[in-house]
Order: sequence, then C-alpha cells, then structure tokens
Amino acid sequence: MTNPNPGRIRPRRLRASAAMRRLTSETDLHPRRLVLPVFVREGLTEPRPIPSMPGVVQHTLESLKGAVDGAVGAGLGGVMLFAVPEVRDATGTQATSSDGILNRAIAVATAQAAGGLVVQADLCLDEFTDHGHCGVLTPDGRVDNDATLVRYADMALAQAAAGADLVGLSGMMDGQVGVVRDALDGAGYDEVAVLAYAAKYASAFYGPFRDAVESQLQGDRRTYQLDPANRREAAREVAIDVAEGADIVMVKPAMSYLDVLADVAATSPVPVAAYAVSGEYAMLEAAAAAGWIERERAIYESVLSIRRAGADHVLTYHATELAGWLAEES
Ligand code: PBG
Repeated sequence: MTNPNPGRIRPRRLRASAAMRRLTSETDLHPRRLVLPVFVREGLTEPRPIPSMPGVVQHTLESLKGAVDGAVGAGLGGVMLFAVPEVRDATGTQATSSDGILNRAIAVATAQAAGGLVVQADLCLDEFTDHGHCGVLTPDGRVDNDATLVRYADMALAQAAAGADLVGLSGMMDGQVGVVRDALDGAGYDEVAVLAYAAKYASAFYGPFRDAVESQLQGDRRTYQLDPANRREAAREVAIDVAEGADIVMVKPAMSYLDVLADVAATSPVPVAAYAVSGEYAMLEAAAAAGWIERERAIYESVLSIRRAGADHVLTYHATELAGWLAEES
C-alpha cells in the first residue's frame, strides 16, 4: 500500500516519541496561569463542605490562611475571594462595611500572601443582597443599573482599603468599569487593577456556585448577563470595558464558550482570563467519581483547552491540585 499523501508528508513523525511530542507541544500550563477561587463564610467555626462541589469548602477566616498558603506554595498566579455574610439586606450593606466578611477576608489573604500572588476580590452585590441580584432594585423589582454603580464604587473603595491587589467586577452593569476606575483613582488607589468580567453569560453552569454562596436569587440574571446564543456581543462588551479602563478582561464560563474566548483573545489589547465555573467543576468531579472519565487527565485536558483557546490565565477550583501535578511533571 502506498501512502497517498503528497510527497513524503508524515505528521505522525512529530508524535512518535515522548521527547518529540514534548518539543513540539504548542500550549503550556504553568501554575502562574492558574487562579484559585476561594469561598469564606461568616460565622463558621470550621470549614464547611459544599455538597455540589466535592472537595471545595466554605472557609473560616482562619482556614482561609491555609488555602492562601497552599496557593502561594503551589506557585499560583492568584486567589479570587468570595464571601458569604451572615446578614443580608436590600442594598448589600455588608459589602461596603470595613468589617464585612469579604473585606476582612481580603485583609487576611493579603497579609498571608505577602505579595506572593495577586489577591483578587469579587466585586458584586449578589452575595450580600437579600434578593440575590447583582445590583440594587427599583421599587418595581428591576435591577437599577445606575444606582448599582454607586454601590460598586463604594465596594471598590472598601476592597482597596482592605488591601486587594485587583477587583473583579462580575456584576455586568453598564458603566461599572469606568465608575470603579474613577472611584479608585480619586482615592489614590491607582495601582489597584480592574478585572472586568466582560463577557459573562447567563449560564446554567453557575448552579453549584449558588449553593456555595447560599444564593437567595429567585428567577434569573438574563437582564444583565449575556445570552448564551451571542458571540458578536461579547466583542462589543470587551471593547467597552477596555475603553473604560479594564486591565484584564474575562470570558465566563470557559468550556462552553471557547469560541468566544478565542475571538476575544485574538483581538484583546489586554490580558484575557477565563473562568472554569462551578458547574464545570461539578461535572468533572461527578463523572470521575462514577468512574466514567479519568479524573486527572480530564482536569488537565479541560484547563489545557481553555489555554489553547487563548486564555492567559484560568480561574479553576482545581488550581492548587493541578499546579501540584505540574510541579511533579517538570
Ligand atoms: C457573581 C458571580 C457568580 C459566579 C462568580 N461571580 C454567579 C452568578 O453570576 O450567578 C459564578 C462562579 C461559578 O459558578 O463558579 N458574583
């Protein structure tokens, strides 16, 4: 049998040995590319497991220190902090109070990390409001964009005062990046970076996260998060956020949105992050627990695919464990 390929072209030559595959591999994973999302819950005396995210817990302020140590030790690029307050109200008062749980967690993490990674804070009201929306509501129950911006500006100042290196704006309000940048600069926090969740979709894959933060949400977020059907609109959101001063932009979720991620990565003038969300984590863990996929290989491959699509860094609940495997490998 003769090979019908023209000439003597044999792509398999580059796959023939481990050394050749290693030489010609196009995409790297490195711990610095990984960011660990971490949950802190007010009022706990010990860490509490999150049933829909096996292996992930709600931390106490004390156990947060160990999570930060683990992240620094693994060489991660950062941690992203979320926190659940004991008391919620209509405007999310705890988000802006200096002794609110998230702001206290930022201070603890910053001290613990001691500059060894980038301490990032979620800047959104949904964990703090009693209705669970990412903003404040009008009397007739709609999310009030511009009234929410005032809260976000205050929240940014509280997070910067607590020591955050970066604020992650995940609320999808129009104008949020510009308002937060102005507020930070006006208070002398010009070195605090702004990560814009620029293309954040109204996704079913956030389900387990809502357990993790004990979300009070009734209904959905479709009046502010993007329609999963839309690709072009993501480019528009990114352009707006970059114009408003975003230092980093994000696409979220990751695995079902790799086309969007590739588009954004091809044109973004700033670094691009992608978030492998709670539902992606839960799917991998559930299938692995059932013995249906090889856990370690599947986790590695999913994060690699997100990097290959163009993400400069990846938020993943597997970050510390994955970084450990990478260290063994090299
Ligand atoms: C909102 C926020 C959400 C996530 C991160 N920030 C939830 C939402 O928009 O409903 C989801 C993260 C995940 O699912 O892992 N503050």
